[in-house]
Amino acid sequence: MTGATTWVGTEQLRSRIAAELERTRARTALLTEAVDEADLVRQHSPLMSPLVWDLAHVGNQEELWLVRDVGGREPVRRDIDDLYDAFKQPRRDRPTLPLLPPREARAYLLTVREKVLDLLDRVAFTDRPLVADGFAFGMIVQHEQQHDETMLATHQLRAGPAVLHAPPPPEPRARVDAEVLVPAGEFTMGTDTDPWALDNERPAHRVHLPAYVIDAAPVTNGRYREFVADGGYDDPRWWSPAGWRHRREAGLSAPMHWRRDGDGWAYRRFGRWAPVRDDEPVVHVCYHEAQAYAAWAGKRLPTEAEWEKAARWDPATGRSRRYPWGDDDPTAEHANLGQRHLWPAPVGAYPAGASPLGVHQLVGDVWEWTSTPFRGYPGFTAFPYREYSEVFFGDDHRVLRGGSFGTDRAACRGTFRNWDYPIRRQIFSGFRCARDARPEESQP
Ligand code: AVJ
Ligand code: FE
Repeated sequence: MTGATTWVGTEQLRSRIAAELERTRARTALLTEAVDEADLVRQHSPLMSPLVWDLAHVGNQEELWLVRDVGGREPVRRDIDDLYDAFKQPRRDRPTLPLLPPREARAYLLTVREKVLDLLDRVAFTDRPLVADGFAFGMIVQHEQQHDETMLATHQLRAGPAVLHAPPPPEPRARVDAEVLVPAGEFTMGTDTDPWALDNERPAHRVHLPAYVIDAAPVTNGRYREFVADGGYDDPRWWSPAGWRHRREAGLSAPMHWRRDGDGWAYRRFGRWAPVRDDEPVVHVCYHEAQAYAAWAGKRLPTEAEWEKAARWDPATGRSRRYPWGDDDPTAEHANLGQRHLWPAPVGAYPAGASPLGVHQLVGDVWEWTSTPFRGYPGFTAFPYREYSEVFFGDDHRVLRGGSFGTDRAACRGTFRNWDYPIRRQIFSGFRCARDARPEESQP
């Protein structure tokens, strides 16, 4: 798509945006209607907002960008902007704010959405960057989906009986190799052409990587359990200085939500305890745990560029594709995305989603830690606001790639970049390992 959309293209774009807005709102409704009012206003963890804050914040961002900026219309509720500004209100303070009660928050979202649908009927998708290809609408869909994943993480931290339900993910359908060699050479990282790609995914640029080897699947519970059983949490040799300090201060001894269960381990997911299954990717580990495991295994975490080359580079054409399987949008056959399931799928469950080199489950299941600090690509320009990406650039955050079982397909692609502090593990985070290729391996 380009900015010069034809009339037919414009009508298709309008209906696609309407469908994405509706689909996304249905997920928000599911996550916020699964619990009662007291639960919506409660803070389930100091790391998270009350669900009712996320709810009204989603509506407020939609009002700011679509109703006011794109539409040029009068504010619906200017008085609440500060309450729902994530930079003005630290998460731990949000439960004490005079937030809109659930009923008012829902009414606010409805009012904003009515205005947006009216605007969508009339908007001209001109070349103005904010509206070309419906970008602002796509940004708002992604924003709501990101908060839906955050609300899903809040559900995971919530005490009490289960309120979310979903069928288990598919069983393995293919054998997966341990590792895959990615030959030395250049590839295109990032994008200039994906119309709804966010500022930090741009611009496209060429990156040369020496030959490397990457795990063909995320590290599983079974392998991670060996690290735990081998005393990995008690051996400073495997940890970075910052990681070891954090491991001691936080008293880490296993992934978050694990507890001992006889000889094995159990894992609490959305209010239910289940035995830890060895062939599922490990989830709820922080960067430091991932880094320590990799050192113990004689490997390292991949860089962000190594992750993206493994996910997008097509050896047949040299092109970088949108996803490991090609350019088509994800389906249920490709990846464990979109909260269709409530935990990662066993290794081998998505053969149709593998890359041409045979790397599996890069997209979906678990966000994968990379060793790369979150920074702008060469030539980065903040768009449309510095607070989406740029204010987070620097050494404090590490990049995560690929999306989890809780990530919607609208907020996930081969170029999509997530980031967090290296100590965070309430997110649906796992990892895979990589290593430099040995000289004899990299000869063609
Ligand atoms: C990209 C997931 C780190 O949730 O902090 C939501 C996304 N930005 N509202 C976050 C976001 C503004 C962001 N992450
Ligand atoms: Fe937000």
